[in-house]
Amino acid sequence: MPIQTERIAFANAPATAADTNSAGIPKLGYGCWNLPNEKAADLVYAALEAGYRHIDSAAIYQNEREVGQGITRWLKATGTPRSEIFVTSKLWLNSKKPENVTRGLNKTLEDLQLEYLDLYLIHWPGALATGPNYDGSAQIPQDDKGFPLKDHNVEEKDTWAAMETQVPQKCKNIGISNYTKSEIADLLKTAKIRPSSLQVELHVYNQQPELVKYAQSQGIQVTAYSPFGGLNHIYGSNAEVVEDPAVKALAQKYQTSNHGIALSFLLAKNISPIPKTVSRIKENFESVVALSAEDVQTLEGANKNKRYNDGSEMLGYIYFKDEKDTGTILSQIGKAGLSRAQAKVEHLVGK
Ligand SMILES: NC(=O)c1ccc[n+]([C@@H]2O[C@H](COP(=O)([O-])OP(=O)(O)OC[C@H]3O[C@@H](n4cnc5c(N)ncnc54)[C@H](OP(=O)(O)O)[C@@H]3O)[C@@H](O)[C@H]2O)c1
Repeated sequence: MPIQTERIAFANAPATAADTNSAGIPKLGYGCWNLPNEKAADLVYAALEAGYRHIDSAAIYQNEREVGQGITRWLKATGTPRSEIFVTSKLWLNSKKPENVTRGLNKTLEDLQLEYLDLYLIHWPGALATGPNYDGSAQIPQDDKGFPLKDHNVEEKDTWAAMETQVPQKCKNIGISNYTKSEIADLLKTAKIRPSSLQVELHVYNQQPELVKYAQSQGIQVTAYSPFGGLNHIYGSNAEVVEDPAVKALAQKYQTSNHGIALSFLLAKNISPIPKTVSRIKENFESVVALSAEDVQTLEGANKNKRYNDGSEMLGYIYFKDEKDTGTILSQIGKAGLSRAQAKVEHLVGK
């Protein structure tokens, strides 16, 4: 079996996950954020055709209908059983009130035209108000000043408990995304089903070794989003990770692309990368190589603890606060329209 489709076993998978072949995640995924709506169905079809068996979707990407069309069309055309592919989606912040989790999940399943997800993640910590004409769709509601409209009454542990009730009928595994070590530890205090997976920003410049080690020590498999660092246009099309001298030298050595080295580095650490691409679907799939331990070590030395995705100002919650100084936190509180009092209540400052 090619390395791209080998599965990383979920140590925390509920026993029922085995019934649908969902107790492990195919190593290489196809990311669906920023797939244009008019092309998304064909792109997902092409990704499955190229060999990807893991599709990473989310309600907030606003393209789940098209992603679902691509999946359904490919399964029908090839006669492949549903259990051969692995589909992840994510609960958006305006559906985090426990009584709304079912609505958010139902909307995603309806859009994707699926009976179940292999993995359903809490997309980010924090909660937003449901927004106008709420029907389970993902929204980022704003107040009249343009600040995110938060829901301060939702606790992560209660959202998690509502996620647990969806297993195994509508999702085979549940997990988290964008959680820090302390946020994971808090969740584990009350979780009856432990998270199968953690999805976070991971690449050569943001390796988060402590977080990865902690998650894996808790039986939580790790998935890497934005494996090419700042390359997507929302982050400013910053190619510094794939142009790093160590990455380039290894691309020469292994006769693959810089992108192939970025993916292979994560795979060598038993982390599942989920690259997005419109035009290099086959190229990326085939770019993966087996790096030597020494070359992995060289890339480890290139870490810069550099993060490109921080939703704090857009979503009104101070993310990754463990790694921020008080000045950064206070500035983000201001830009997110949060009062210091609110932030204190949420334990965002004073740490
Ligand atoms: N959980 C979360 O909060 C979260 C956050 C961010 C992302 N994600 C997931 O992770 C996926 C991947 O992350 P991402 O979309 O941020 O970034 P990414 O996959 O690291 O990078 C995507 C960018 O790289 C370009 N690219 C891909 N292959 C290339 C190649 N061989 N040569 C040159 N350029 C290439 C793409 O352009 P083209 O499309 O033109 O090829 C696109 O601009 C997302 O799609 C999403 O599914 C999750």
